[in-house]
Amino acid sequence: MYRLLLGKCRQSGINQLMQDLGEAYSSDHPDLCMLGGGNPAFIPAAQELFGKEMARLIDNNLFQRMVGIYDGPHGEQSFREVLANYLNKQFDWSISAENISLTNGSQNSFFYLFNALAGEMPDGSFKKIMFPLSPEYVGYADSGLSENMFVSNRPNIEHLENKQFKYRVNFDELEIGDDIAAICLSRPTNPTGNVVSNRELARLDELARQHEIPLIVDNAYGQPFPNVIYADADLSWNQNTVLCMSLSKLGLPGARTGIVIANKEITNTISALSGIITLAPNSVGAALMTRMIEDGEMGHLTENIIKPFYRTQLDAAIEVFNQVFADLPVLMHKPEGAFFLWLWCQDLPITTKELYARLKARQVFVIPGEDFFIDIDPSWPHTKQCLRINYGQPTEKLRAGFEVLAAELRLLYGL
Ligand SMILES: Cc1ncc(COP(=O)(O)O)c(C=O)c1O
Repeated sequence: MYRLLLGKCRQSGINQLMQDLGEAYSSDHPDLCMLGGGNPAFIPAAQELFGKEMARLIDNNLFQRMVGIYDGPHGEQSFREVLANYLNKQFDWSISAENISLTNGSQNSFFYLFNALAGEMPDGSFKKIMFPLSPEYVGYADSGLSENMFVSNRPNIEHLENKQFKYRVNFDELEIGDDIAAICLSRPTNPTGNVVSNRELARLDELARQHEIPLIVDNAYGQPFPNVIYADADLSWNQNTVLCMSLSKLGLPGARTGIVIANKEITNTISALSGIITLAPNSVGAALMTRMIEDGEMGHLTENIIKPFYRTQLDAAIEVFNQVFADLPVLMHKPEGAFFLWLWCQDLPITTKELYARLKARQVFVIPGEDFFIDIDPSWPHTKQCLRINYGQPTEKLRAGFEVLAAELRLLYGL
């Protein structure tokens, strides 16, 4: 056991990065520009609603239940029923509470799913998870209990107007062999803000069904909550889809609530793993959200508070980007969802890990892109030319950080 855990901890570049970010947060340095990290923004109007809901739970004697009992391993029953009804109404599905299992956050869901589906098989074969569109969420990279559990597909790059580009699934290169246990993608995508189109998703769904493997869709930023999505995207589900949702990006990462919507065989597997590993998933998120979903307050929260907040931030970020990087060969991925800008510094003469270190010395924290290209050949220069920026920061911080980044880039490009 020790050997395995130590191996994991040593490998993970992202752990080092998270440690840096944690130290930076606690340093309180006056020049600090924290453009890294995946924390949702503190949105006072949302926090006020969560606070009021907690007070209501206390007033109605529901608080005792929330903290005082273990839920079943599937997660709190009435929340799952309310959520199933809500999703059926919103999207015209026909799921029941039995298609829903809760976990301690999506990160936890992926650990269960990947290791239940892939790795060493009882028949001696070895199966992998396919990420059809790289770059992809870095949190997947270290979640396999076996080595080399993930394969990725290099994207096509479509150049757009206004110094923007968009990654597209390269179906010509996508090989789904017998060794693939599932296809998985985040939509909207962390780190790029991409939203894989309805047509691309339908093709992936078809491929998954053809190969009798699940299609896992990580909907941490998508509909119906937190709904930080600006592209025209349908949310579909079928018995072969594993849809993973989370309460984190609504502003509740501390409640550690992941939601897996899948066929009953998969939800039973998740709940069996929850039973073994944590006895029961966290009850806090479910308790807070049940009434809010039932009474339609969730719709108000996402449509009138969360989505407009990030939209305003994004508009400001795009404006600052266009001003500060106008003379530099820096492109932005088309921001269609989530709360990140993904910048491509074309022909950068150093790696983005080196650029990260230079910026860190000037109290500007971004996330270098290398680790998001899970399993992609690092000799592709593009893997070392991208940065992720969290734009949920005050605009003046964003501008200050961008100006430091632009100054470093001018030196590097000799401009
Ligand atoms: C795409 C994506 N999936 C999953 C997660 C994990 O979220 P949770 O807090 O629910 O574990 C994150 C967190 O940043 C994410 O960006």
